[in-house]
Amino acid sequence: MHTVAVLSQKGGAGKTTLVLNLAVAFEQKGQSVAVIDLDPQASAAGWKDSRAGDSPYVVSLPHTRLSQALQAAEESGAAVALVDTAPHSEGAALAAAKAADVVLIPCRAGILDLRAIATTAELVKLAGKPAYVVLNAVPPRANQILADARQAVAVHGLDVAPVAIQQRAPYAHALTVGKTAQEYEPNGKAAEETAQLYMWLRSILG
Ligand SMILES: Nc1ncnc2c1ncn2[C@@H]1O[C@H](COP(=O)(O)OP(=O)(O)OP(=O)(O)O)[C@@H](O)[C@H]1O
Ligand SMILES: [Mg+2]
Repeated sequence: MHTVAVLSQKGGAGKTTLVLNLAVAFEQKGQSVAVIDLDPQASAAGWKDSRAGDSPYVVSLPHTRLSQALQAAEESGAAVALVDTAPHSEGAALAAAKAADVVLIPCRAGILDLRAIATTAELVKLAGKPAYVVLNAVPPRANQILADARQAVAVHGLDVAPVAIQQRAPYAHALTVGKTAQEYEPNGKAAEETAQLYMWLRSILG
């Protein structure tokens, strides 16, 4: 089983959205997923409550139970565990990063968001795991913003995922009805870029 931790010490960066979109992408390709929600706000678990259907499996628990949850997910046949974390939660974020094969750090492309990435970068370094910033909610036609963001991220010694996620209404609308962008608008651009991000993630997980 592969374990992917999604962290960002900044609130609202897009952690839960990324976890759920990737979870559905894996499920759509026939790979069973366990979403482990370490955020006391339990947003991923709340999304699951509002969702029709059994998959993906979502469990909400404190980070002190993470290793048991990962073991149970593996024993139940999950191919991938996606760990969602809370902002401002260094203990949980570090536990998730240590347990992960790969860490994804969603980050909006604004300068304040990019500066705030320093704390998350430190955590990832402590855990010693490969980590990629996923630029999120990028405005359309934002080549300069993307170039500046890549430079700002490089200062922290982090890599940037080759696929950036744009600001698109279906990401937000889908979650309110217990779906993800790929299900809400299967032929839309959000679905397409999510598929690209998924393909890239698959390639680095091996
Ligand atoms: N690419 C995007 N386009 C449009 N809306 C987005 C995008 N990414 C996230 N959002 C919206 O931004 C808000 C915050 O996203 P999300 O809850 O995923 O962030 P988070 O990092 O999990 O937040 P928290 O730190 O509170 O857990 C949500 O309303 C979500 O629907
Ligand atoms: Mg969240």
